Amino acid sequence: MSRILVTGGLGYIGSHTTVELMAKGHEVIVVDNLSNTRESVLDGITAIAGKRPSWVNLDLADAAATQAFFAGNAFDAIIHFAAFKAVGESVEKPMMYYRNNVNALMHVLDYVTSNPSCACIFSSSCTVYGQADHLPISEAAPMKQAESPYGMTKQIGESMLTDAAKAYGLKVTALRYFNPIGAHPSALIGELPLGPPQNLVPFITQSAAGLRGPLQVYGKDYPTADGTAVRDYIHVVDLALAHIAAMDHLMRQEGGDMHVFNLGTGKGSSVLSVIQAFEDATGTALSWAFAPRRAGDVVAAYADTERAASVLGWRAQRSLADSMKDAWRWQEGLPS
Ligand code: WQD
Repeated sequence: MSRILVTGGLGYIGSHTTVELMAKGHEVIVVDNLSNTRESVLDGITAIAGKRPSWVNLDLADAAATQAFFAGNAFDAIIHFAAFKAVGESVEKPMMYYRNNVNALMHVLDYVTSNPSCACIFSSSCTVYGQADHLPISEAAPMKQAESPYGMTKQIGESMLTDAAKAYGLKVTALRYFNPIGAHPSALIGELPLGPPQNLVPFITQSAAGLRGPLQVYGKDYPTADGTAVRDYIHVVDLALAHIAAMDHLMRQEGGDMHVFNLGTGKGSSVLSVIQAFEDATGTALSWAFAPRRAGDVVAAYADTERAASVLGWRAQRSLADSMKDAWRWQEGLPS
């Protein structure tokens, strides 16, 4: 099998992807500087996979350290998750986001441009579309002005990859995630943001567990069926499996083109319907209240999933109820 580098491999999506890569028999090397996760995630990965992946504590924004790391290593593919990803924080600290997210990708690309047979998968986001003009959103939808520095770093990253692929004949794919939620069914790994959760589902589970106050529902007057904003919530295990399918596809391609795939379920769910799904799936009542809209939020976003289905042979299999059950089981297993 192949030797795969997973940057940010102790993070939420990175850890779930690492266990699926190991289940396929790949040798996985994880790079993570623990800026938004904990070393204990490695224990969860090991318990699921049955063996411990090698982990290097490396800041990819550090050019010298990253160059030294790559000088002693060779990879068949790199899945690049390592980035800061909190939309609101990026507005408060834009230079921290540009410095980290852009430099880290730059230093990974320094290796890939010198080793063009190495396939590179980039963790992108539906954020690049802004508020799309048409729903569901296809990969042909234009990138709009990013709503945040976080979204801009994803747009910059995709532009860097497109230009590098063309100039150096690289194998690159950008995966545009919609809203990743849920946890591994073993409850050994899951979403565990440092500090108060910015995203909806971890706030729901922490509120239901009594760790947070009532959920604030940001906005009730959107032009949607129930007035709350609509998103495409995809189970993190489905998302991890999509990375395997995308990597297998990319390794079979000639270099030079940038491949782009939306990763979602194709279904839109409002905030109120997510709350209802949580209560139905877990039998746990949630305390919540309406609050003003959150700056930067779009009204609705859900994916056209046909390209991933036809080219990668991948579709999301898990339901919103599955995600809620798995998220809650993970939350209940955490030390309070
Ligand atoms: C979802 C909906 C909120 C919290 C962002 C990034 C995206 C991806 C996922 C990385 C919105 C509402 C939320 C709360 C609420 N990041 N909400 N109360 O903003 O759609 O996407 O995270 O991969 O790139 O843009 O996700 O979970 O923050 O919000 O009402 O306490 O829930 O207003 O409508 P978002 P989210």
